Amino acid sequence: MRNVFRNTVYFIFISCGVLAAQSSTQLLSSQTEVKIDSIIKLMTLEEKLGQLNQIGGTWYDTKTERLNEEQTAMLKAGEIGSFLGITGAAETGRIQRIAVEQSRMKIPVLFGYDIIHGYSTITPIPLAEACSWNPDLVEQSAHVAAIEGSAIGVHWTYAPMVDIARDPRWGRIAEGSGEDPYLGSVMAAARVRGFQGKNILEYGSLLACVKHFAAYGGAEAGRDYNTVDFSERTLREIYLPPYKAAIDAGAWTVMSAFNEIGGVPSSASSWLMTDLLRDEWNFKGLVVSDYTAIMELMNHRIAKDSTEAGIVGLSSGVEIDMVSRIYLRKLSEAVRSKKLSQEIVDEAVRRVLRVKFVYGLFDDPYRNAKPEKEKELLLKKEHRVVAREMAQHSIVLLKNEKDILPLKKSTKTIALIGPLAGNENRSDLVGAWAWARNPNDVVSVIQGIKAKVSSSIKIVYDKGCEIESDSGARIKQAVKIAKQADVIVAVLGESQHVSGEAASKSNLDLPSTQKELLKALKKTGKPIVLVLMNGRPLTLEWESENIPAIVEAWHLGVEAGNAIADVLFGDVNPSGKLTVSFPRNVGQIPVYYNHKSTGRPYNPKDKYTSQFLDVPNSPLYPFGFGLSYTTFSYSNVTVSSAAIKKGQSVTILVDVENSGNRAGEEVVQLYLRDDFATVTRPVKELKGFKKISLNPGEKKTVEFTITQDQLAFYNLEMKKVVEPGTFTVYVGGNSVDCKEAVFEVVD
Ligand code: GLC
Repeated sequence: MRNVFRNTVYFIFISCGVLAAQSSTQLLSSQTEVKIDSIIKLMTLEEKLGQLNQIGGTWYDTKTERLNEEQTAMLKAGEIGSFLGITGAAETGRIQRIAVEQSRMKIPVLFGYDIIHGYSTITPIPLAEACSWNPDLVEQSAHVAAIEGSAIGVHWTYAPMVDIARDPRWGRIAEGSGEDPYLGSVMAAARVRGFQGKNILEYGSLLACVKHFAAYGGAEAGRDYNTVDFSERTLREIYLPPYKAAIDAGAWTVMSAFNEIGGVPSSASSWLMTDLLRDEWNFKGLVVSDYTAIMELMNHRIAKDSTEAGIVGLSSGVEIDMVSRIYLRKLSEAVRSKKLSQEIVDEAVRRVLRVKFVYGLFDDPYRNAKPEKEKELLLKKEHRVVAREMAQHSIVLLKNEKDILPLKKSTKTIALIGPLAGNENRSDLVGAWAWARNPNDVVSVIQGIKAKVSSSIKIVYDKGCEIESDSGARIKQAVKIAKQADVIVAVLGESQHVSGEAASKSNLDLPSTQKELLKALKKTGKPIVLVLMNGRPLTLEWESENIPAIVEAWHLGVEAGNAIADVLFGDVNPSGKLTVSFPRNVGQIPVYYNHKSTGRPYNPKDKYTSQFLDVPNSPLYPFGFGLSYTTFSYSNVTVSSAAIKKGQSVTILVDVENSGNRAGEEVVQLYLRDDFATVTRPVKELKGFKKISLNPGEKKTVEFTITQDQLAFYNLEMKKVVEPGTFTVYVGGNSVDCKEAVFEVVD
């Protein structure tokens, strides 16, 4: 029996080999489905539940990447379908061999890992990359991450994170693309293309994982893991589009979110995971829960015990249980006692096996188990080139009075001051969800500047204070150093530890000692450039009033120092634009550009309108804002037709001129307002953007085509419709300073 069985299983794999040469979508052919069904027929219930079980390697327990005896026994018993957090081509190869050669069903395992913005070649945090408004570059950056993830034996990255975030108190705002659904959708699709490549079967591609489904960024008060409660209309118009865009771009996996939405935890929501994801969006891949999210259904108090949690999680459409081990341990009894149907288990296994087929693991389980690739690919020169270009384009110039910037190479002495300027805190320059394998891989600001300027410029340096607040004892020394210089470059901001997951903050000022240091530097009367390294919008009212030049540099990754030096000395003209509004203070939050009118639209001259007594409604720096070392002027906004019929598109033209004296790139942004509708509509919505290069004096006509689906919204019946009426067009270099035009949709 055993031999016959073994031959049967081998037959399946050999015949699968024939499939491998085909593309992943072809693999979704009926042949694959037949193969999957024949495998499922051979599996025991425990082996099926094993495919739905994902465990972290002992790395999570002992910081080593080997399996302990218990885990090895589970693997051989077919009780593990995938691993989280195990890396190393040799180690993953060793584990895969046990799965494929020593288990009864010989089903390959998947190795998942959080490769969010690079592995060894760490690129800027996703929020920074989004500020480039350059999806091609973002795709390249994601592909570098996929190549390096493949080199360390990983199959599946838990990225892109595409959660819309309007609240900078939430530390995970660093991991997404900011507050706008259109830009977020463009970046989500770019990252999926980058991770999965043109053909996912090719080496250097990883399975993407769209997360966190859904609306995790809407946590009340920006407090991580907190309650989310939006109308379906807000969900569909603001929070869901980037997930849809990622799935339409071909993402094969989705991760369910920790949070509830309106009373239903996402990881138990059949509306999200089945009605919307499968039935409406036709998603064919698998859903993995977030870390212990299945167990947490008991904390949400919608499950009395772990069996109930497992039943409601799996039944809703969450196929893989990340590290709770509930599916494995509790659901065989649930099936036997008829509390859970066998069909639900089989369908879940089918989805998991389908993804393993798509990734080619049945043909080549060892596709990424190539230890020689680690040496060849990790931190290779070409990857650093991508990281540096990505970092250059992620930088946003917020202020530049009296053209302090770019710094002149004729400057005699530059004082570099601050806890993020030197070589000491380089691991903080890579930001959240990145562990600089070796801080020496990260180029610091002082290294970048020294590499840039000739020895004719004297660089004096002092840390000034710690990143988090300290006694301030070192400030005097730093000021003394600064007084020697012609210009001060202060590099301040956040450590990587106060950004990302479980890093919500109620105070968004610079840490107090850093602020004290900056005020002391200001008192020297020297010209000051403030370079910020942070993973979220900060509250910068004092800085914006008192510091003449401010550069938002985010956490830029291994090439941070070089990219910052490129911009500070003008070898690169900054072109980044904010994809999230900067509030004036925390009390203003949430503040975002695509807000509603309200019945009493803001009028600073009439207190009986929607406003605060102590702060204007406008953010300190608005969505889409970013300066350049040159200037751009907009004129001649025209629409192809003053009136269009339903179904027709309209073309909008605008002339953009470089009215300054040096070449630069400009992100031309197109917003629309549906002037009147049967439900309230935002005061404006981003519907298109184009990044163009212009030499001094050069003028280009930029064209946008708006199609009907970009005019559509969810009406009172929650149907997506276009209603007749006028639309106001806004075109400009940010969401505030725009030229206007109008067109009408007529019945
Ligand atoms: C974490 C995060 C998720 C990550 C997962 C695996 O809790 O919420 O983004 O992918 O666990 O590390």
